[in-house]
Amino acid sequence: MNKRISKSGAMDFHVLPPKGLLNDPNGLVHYKGTTHIFFQWNPHETDHSYKCWGHATTEDLIHYTYHEEALLPEEWYEKNGCYSGSGLVHEDKLYLFYTGNVKNEKEERESYQCVAVSEDGFHFEKLGPVIRDIEGYTAHVRDPKVFRHEDGLFYMVLGAQREDLTGDTILFRSEDLLKWDFMGSLMEEKVDLGYMWECPDLINYKDKSVFIFSPQGLEPQGEKYRNIFQTGYYTGTFQNGVFRKDDHDFTEMDRGFEYYAPQSFAYPDGRILSMGWMGTMEKEKEEALPTVKEGWVHHLSILRELSLSPEGKLIQKPVRELESAREKILDENRESFKVEIETPLEVNLKLSEGSSSMELRYGGDLQLNYDGSAFSVERKDWLTGEREYRSVELPEGLTELQMLLDHTSAEIFINGGREVVSLRFFKDEEHNELLITGNADMDLRLYGLVF
Ligand code: FRU
Repeated sequence: MNKRISKSGAMDFHVLPPKGLLNDPNGLVHYKGTTHIFFQWNPHETDHSYKCWGHATTEDLIHYTYHEEALLPEEWYEKNGCYSGSGLVHEDKLYLFYTGNVKNEKEERESYQCVAVSEDGFHFEKLGPVIRDIEGYTAHVRDPKVFRHEDGLFYMVLGAQREDLTGDTILFRSEDLLKWDFMGSLMEEKVDLGYMWECPDLINYKDKSVFIFSPQGLEPQGEKYRNIFQTGYYTGTFQNGVFRKDDHDFTEMDRGFEYYAPQSFAYPDGRILSMGWMGTMEKEKEEALPTVKEGWVHHLSILRELSLSPEGKLIQKPVRELESAREKILDENRESFKVEIETPLEVNLKLSEGSSSMELRYGGDLQLNYDGSAFSVERKDWLTGEREYRSVELPEGLTELQMLLDHTSAEIFINGGREVVSLRFFKDEEHNELLITGNADMDLRLYGLVF
């Protein structure tokens, strides 16, 4: 399969479906010198009627090569889809863990947690289901994320729904990756967050862990939880098979529009990298995506480097390898800027101490605002034509902003990755004007991105 060339002829720097619909990143893993990125894929239609695992690889974390599908729904235990899951290298073999989704004759759901194994990263032998029904939970159990802990044992977290129709994440433990023992709920404390939790991920730093998951069914609270579904995290500790959360609210990982179902993996140099799906949206909005007429919808986010700040905030930065694609266009200190520039591009803005407002517009659609306390992003809803926005309070003010723009998306890293705001947006084709104004001098570095 060839690399995908976007309509504009430029190479995009995101993992995009060569055709059809892409959703969650799956099985992110570095194996035998190559980084593998699998993804939920319907190669036939731009809808969710079919799910296999698409496959891309990268040697440098910014250029992607696409391959044949890795897992197709061919067996009885996955006949309605090879759903999301993860990858793990053990004894030189690559193991994939995924959910076999089945709709039985009565149209009821069955979920099987399955294993496939490979010795080259491209051809997989399916070993079949290793976990079936779980007492106390409905058939909504999916998205196995497997990791090895410091005790030498393997752990699997799974998104789940209790029989009382509340969301949860459950934990299994294994010595050999094939026989799994049920350990119960991952969290010590029961938190009430929606009706189903999808795509859990547990990152274990030296003395802190971060539990990331995607709950469904949260009600908006002010400017929080405004998307159809959210992704967020708790910090805490993971010991003896239990996650004890710190005393803080569920914190959204991304304050933009559709970021969902991220997955992390350890890169050989020690970095924890993660990418998400951009992303989840209402069905009518998905069907109206302007790229439907090009035969594809959705893409993954760029890779983010994850770390924890001393006070326990998740810091997310664009993978540093992206810097090698920069071609400098402008490096100036002024109060306002007006530049004609095509995507893909990167904006790096540093505000001075006296700055208390900033407005950025691009391509006749995208608008960013900082009013001295909150940062907001606005775009045109491509379904209704109306303006829509998301907003996040910045208690420490806006000091710097890094924005990566691809042809149909923006990823905005605020104050060195303390907040991230990502979104799809669809500008007028010929409209390439970038306008930035503030109330004090700002340092602007502007780069074209060449891949
Ligand atoms: C999240 C999700 C997962 C599931 C997959 C199916 O977007 O719903 O829970 O495994 O997508 O494509």
